[in-house]
Amino acid sequence: MKNYIKVDEWKIIEEGFDPHLNKISESIFSLGNGRMGQRANFEETYTGESLQGNYVAGVYYPDKTRVGWWKNGYPEYFAKVLNAANWIETGIRIGEEILDLNSCTVREFRRVLHMKEGYLERSFVAELSGGKQLKVLSKRFCSIVDDETGAISYSLTPMNFSAGIKITPAVNGDVKNQDSNYDEKFWDEVHKEADDHLGIVLMRTKKTGFEVCTGMKFSISSDRGEPEYQIRPLTGEKYAASEVTVHVSEGETITVCKYAANLSSENYPSEVLVSECKKTLDRIYSKGFDKMLQEQAAAWELKWQESDIVIEGDAAAQQGIRFNIFQLNQTYTGEDARLNIGPKGFTGEKYGGSTYWDTEAYCVPFYLATAPPEVTRNLLIYRYKHLEKAIENAAKLGFKNGAALYPMVTMNGEECHNEWEITFEEIHRNGAIAYAIWNYIRYTGDKDYLAAYGLEVLVGIARFWSQRVNWSEEKHKYVMLGVTGPNEYENNVNNNWYTNTIASWCMDYAVEALEYVKRASPERYEELISKMAFDESEEIPAWRHITANMYFPESAEYGVFLQQDGFLDKEQVLVKDLDQADRPLNQKWSWDRILRSVFIKQADVLQGLYFFEDRYDEATIRRNFDFYEPRTVHESSLSPCVHSILAAKLGDEKRAYDFYLRTSRLDLDDYNNDTEDGLHITSMAGTWMSVVEGFAGMRVKNDALHFRPFLPGQWTSFSFNILFRESILNVKINRDSVVLSNQSKKNVTVYVFGNAFEVAGGKEVFAEYGKYQV
Ligand code: BGC
Repeated sequence: MKNYIKVDEWKIIEEGFDPHLNKISESIFSLGNGRMGQRANFEETYTGESLQGNYVAGVYYPDKTRVGWWKNGYPEYFAKVLNAANWIETGIRIGEEILDLNSCTVREFRRVLHMKEGYLERSFVAELSGGKQLKVLSKRFCSIVDDETGAISYSLTPMNFSAGIKITPAVNGDVKNQDSNYDEKFWDEVHKEADDHLGIVLMRTKKTGFEVCTGMKFSISSDRGEPEYQIRPLTGEKYAASEVTVHVSEGETITVCKYAANLSSENYPSEVLVSECKKTLDRIYSKGFDKMLQEQAAAWELKWQESDIVIEGDAAAQQGIRFNIFQLNQTYTGEDARLNIGPKGFTGEKYGGSTYWDTEAYCVPFYLATAPPEVTRNLLIYRYKHLEKAIENAAKLGFKNGAALYPMVTMNGEECHNEWEITFEEIHRNGAIAYAIWNYIRYTGDKDYLAAYGLEVLVGIARFWSQRVNWSEEKHKYVMLGVTGPNEYENNVNNNWYTNTIASWCMDYAVEALEYVKRASPERYEELISKMAFDESEEIPAWRHITANMYFPESAEYGVFLQQDGFLDKEQVLVKDLDQADRPLNQKWSWDRILRSVFIKQADVLQGLYFFEDRYDEATIRRNFDFYEPRTVHESSLSPCVHSILAAKLGDEKRAYDFYLRTSRLDLDDYNNDTEDGLHITSMAGTWMSVVEGFAGMRVKNDALHFRPFLPGQWTSFSFNILFRESILNVKINRDSVVLSNQSKKNVTVYVFGNAFEVAGGKEVFAEYGKYQV
């Protein structure tokens, strides 16, 4: 754990330069706009420890699988988000000396992420040879207004000397991924050109053939009038730059405004990439840095209106939650159904930038409540578009008749995870995809989604489950063998309660959806039935039979659902009995020891109780919580949020808050010592859930919003905005009351502890809840 980020409600601040923290800060201060992302690498040369990262959404490389022993059915490759051409690079040379924070003395270093306006600022004084002091101020952002672009303003002031300075703004495609399996470079050069003030590289990925054109254009100005300078275009392998030589006098400030564009063949035909890139550069160049930044701040203001959480009385908590919301909004904007949310977003290489079940299980609630419905709908359509591949994936594993198994990890619909116990066995991910459809419809009321897209996905998934179970003569029940549940510290188990539960629910929901579409859109139903070759008279009764006779392991003795068959055979010790020196288990214990132990990585049975809470009474949820939580090591960042929400539901405010604290500043304080690999983007959505679903107890039931709030003792109040069915509602939780303020025109009925409050458009309602709270 680190504690070097200064607390501020709207800013992330680092003061002083510590090279050991640099990779962590590169992650924390990352920028993105849903289309491209950029770690907080330095513009000028840096020869110290760094993880370079410029990422272009949707552009990946299929890196050939590397495993010890090949197993039939393994995916051929692991898809990786690519470190793409570097557009920030701006070399600085003072006389013969290269500006490099690794080789000079750095003073007054300050890095600030301005979350309100959406830009990064860095300033420092470099002490160079002979005591020369050079002051640097850089500002940059990835534009959320024009999402293929970014801009940098980079200023230099020699404080006690005058000199000839060479400034070399560049685009550099000679980059690599640190996680490359075979130490290859993934990009080939297709085209490059440099001119005065301009550089362009067009790069093509090996194997996948994605092309990305990265260009830059820049201006030079001085605070002492028009500067005189010489300029020289430069090209090299995968490199285009324009070198400026300028004489800068003591105290004079020279500023380079560098405008960059990243255009990908995903959005343009290859042959126009260069010309479109130049047009884009001209457009932003003529707009200018200040105007672009103003527009950026205005666009962020709107994002904050939709998604901010305001916490009064605890600045560290405020900073933590805003940081999470900021990063989520930087990662996914919902404009393009081909894109999704990688567990590390655009902030590192780990997890390959690929899509996991995290999206459906953890991110969907955030985007549902803070963005228009189309944003989440696009996340669902992403999976719809991958249905064919999911059917192929299942077919490869021996399933038939349109059964669909969605991948655990994917870029394009193909499975690319390559640990057998996950690839073949962590099949519960299929359930989360169906659950997200249900959740989306519950929240938005958009039932038409079923006829348009959802039904086909649900049927494919239900078909898979119906073939994945088998009848046990011994149990006289359907069982599901050889699976890995959400708790990846168990593999190849039989009858994982969560998987059996969600599988059975999926089949029931598919039947319900079929019946609904048949009633609501009979023609479309006929069309779909024939498209899917669906045999109503065979398949529906078969699914019903399975769900009516599914086996769910339970323990009468403990009154709990059993995570899997045989769970009680394990030595029943608790996390509190573990030696701290053994934590985290995944770094200290052999894998077999983990598998044999009782310890749970993340919510498993409890994940099911969270998803399907309405089916279970509070006593059941409590018994399971009290049984499983003490056995859970929470070694996935996705774990604490579910526990926080359940603790809140059970009225255990203290534990709800303690669990929340584990994720709220997970990356800012580098709790798990892994922030340098990138930020935990998907668990950030979980943190949001802990506040809104946990502390505020928000649920959607029967087309209405319900709250069962409490205020953590450390806070004076908290409030947030919710988009719900054309209403924008601000909900403010005080110690004993809720203020519901309807910021839209549409009237809305809101329930607080089960009591209905009508909130007319534009009006505010004050609900004293202290008296109903039990
Ligand atoms: C978790 C998975 C998750 C993945 C990516 C793993 O550590 O166990 O549930 O999907 O990380 O976030």
